[in-house]
Amino acid sequence: MKTVVITGASSGIGLATGEYLARKGYKVYGLSRRKGESELITYLPCDVTERRQVEEAFAMIPEDIDAVINNAGIGVGGSIEYTPIEDVQQIIDVNLLGVVNVVQVALPYLRKTKGRIINIGSVAGDMAIPFQAFYSLTKAGLGIFSEALNIETRPFGVRSVLVLPGDTQTSFTANRKKGILEDGIYGKRIRKSLEKMERDEMRGMPPTAVAKVIHKVLKKKNPPIRITVGFGYKVLVFLKRLVPYRFLNHVLYKLYGGGDE
Ligand SMILES: NC(=O)c1ccc[n+]([C@@H]2O[C@H](COP(=O)([O-])OP(=O)(O)OC[C@H]3O[C@@H](n4cnc5c(N)ncnc54)[C@H](OP(=O)(O)O)[C@@H]3O)[C@@H](O)[C@H]2O)c1
Repeated sequence: MKTVVITGASSGIGLATGEYLARKGYKVYGLSRRKGESELITYLPCDVTERRQVEEAFAMIPEDIDAVINNAGIGVGGSIEYTPIEDVQQIIDVNLLGVVNVVQVALPYLRKTKGRIINIGSVAGDMAIPFQAFYSLTKAGLGIFSEALNIETRPFGVRSVLVLPGDTQTSFTANRKKGILEDGIYGKRIRKSLEKMERDEMRGMPPTAVAKVIHKVLKKKNPPIRITVGFGYKVLVFLKRLVPYRFLNHVLYKLYGGGDE
């Protein structure tokens, strides 16, 4: 039986993935602050931003670890100008430093098993989403980190894969921290943009769609460096590489940034 550790397995994509993998025969450990409710997952209390908690959680796992899925993440919505610096710090702490904590603790275990690291990025990390800039920033950073990690650990047989989901129906939408939505400077643009994002997320794919892709990646002998989830999003990410930056920036402006001038 293979053993996998998933951060943020108490809800959404992490929960769906944990249950999916458990049903496929994996032993699943879930690291999150809340104890999740799935009986298929062994929960270990852990805030990924706290290095000692990450070390203690890994020390409690008796089996060899075959894969670690860095899934825990949060969203912050609002303009760059108004987002409180504490919220900027928090999203960097969870979405980036949390991953660094887990990877640094997990690598000695994964070197032993020639294991896998799956990092849950986002299509929003491949495209600059206005009024969600700090989220895009952390997910773009995670992409670069994941690729560099893959190169550094490849000689040990450890492979790192970035999985990029598009909009997915989870509690991420309700959990997103939001600041000032409307004022005399940005007008209604912040609100409109966030409302569009929220509508898209609520109409998005079920989290099991991401779980299935993660399972495929875990089974692949030669896994991809990055993989986008969902046909439409794959096309979008591919097209992005073909069009000039100015054009892409304008399209994103029209979709998420304009409308109140
Ligand atoms: N939903 C989407 O549309 C979408 C699209 C692309 C990518 N993603 C990414 O998918 C991942 C999972 O998000 P989701 O959509 O499933 O959202 P979610 O339902 O809100 O789940 C987030 C998970 O992260 C955990 N978490 C948050 N802060 C943590 C911390 N400090 N330490 C440990 N665990 C923490 C939460 O558990 P606790 O609160 O119990 O700690 C929860 O289990 C995130 O990285 C997100 O950026 C989501």
